[in-house]
Amino acid sequence: MTGTMTRLRAGRPSVTAEINAQMRAADYALRPERRLVNDQYARHFVENPRYAHLRRTPGIALMGLRIFDHAIGGLLAEILLRGRYFADVLGEVGGDVDQVILVGAGYDTTAQRVARPVTTSFVEVDHPATQRVKRQVLDRIGVRREDITFVPTDLESDSLVSALQSAGVPTGVAALVGWLGVSYYLSHATFGEALCGIAAVCAPGSTLILDYLDPSVVDGTTVYRGARRAARSVRRRGEPYTLGLTVDDAARTAAAVGFQIVEHLRVPDLVRRYGGETPYCCDDDYMGLLRLVRVRDSA
Ligand SMILES: C[S@@+](CC[C@H](N)C(=O)[O-])C[C@H]1O[C@@H](n2cnc3c(N)ncnc32)[C@H](O)[C@@H]1O
Repeated sequence: MTGTMTRLRAGRPSVTAEINAQMRAADYALRPERRLVNDQYARHFVENPRYAHLRRTPGIALMGLRIFDHAIGGLLAEILLRGRYFADVLGEVGGDVDQVILVGAGYDTTAQRVARPVTTSFVEVDHPATQRVKRQVLDRIGVRREDITFVPTDLESDSLVSALQSAGVPTGVAALVGWLGVSYYLSHATFGEALCGIAAVCAPGSTLILDYLDPSVVDGTTVYRGARRAARSVRRRGEPYTLGLTVDDAARTAAAVGFQIVEHLRVPDLVRRYGGETPYCCDDDYMGLLRLVRVRDSA
């Protein structure tokens, strides 16, 4: 993609955020006992009319999900189940934090769906092009958003801390931060700077949930055919994978700003935990999810 304008840089909303919403919408079209996420709002963020017929009946939705999973196994589980994990963590620590911050929120509707204490505020940071669409859709469908602070930010060019401060978001308070489905679209430098920014706004004791992609997917050496397909597909759509991380890389970068890993789950772990007795998504193993805790002030 070197030398080519990426979709976001051209001011267009994220298409991968829309694909994620489509997967959650198709999951919602399943019978309730089969659903993995239960996102009743997701379908409103799917503009591509090609996808609407895939939600006509539970049977068609299941077939569509299985076709996607067959083509790009592992990614579907990651898209759906990292959100389940985040909701669980919110349930666990929500009462102990002053704010929840989603970085690269896309069309995630945790703020609308998952209970949290009324004293816990919600902040969504995203690229302005994607966030504009999200706000329009929430307005159109009449879903409350007054209790969310939206912070339009391009992480590649803006300072996360300055953007949060300009939006009046308190810094240095206990927070739960979700940074899901984003790291692999950033440059290595931006990933480090944004992580530093997250650390700067979080008091010790804060939690960060972050997912990552194996370097072998970015450099094309992965053994998983689905992962190679996924990489080609996002590149074609103007949102190439640019950053692969090993868990050791992530741990080192995080430790430098005072975060420590307390849980590490790979896709097979997520499928085992949340997929049910007969999971409809496979567990190809090229992505991981980290739970980190801020243990000290950054140097
Ligand atoms: C694959 S989507 C994930 C969205 C959501 N977190 C989810 O799990 O469905 C990637 C998100 O990262 C955002 N993003 C990518 N690059 C960004 C950047 N440079 N600055 C801010 N947001 C960015 C996109 O706008 C999009 O919302």
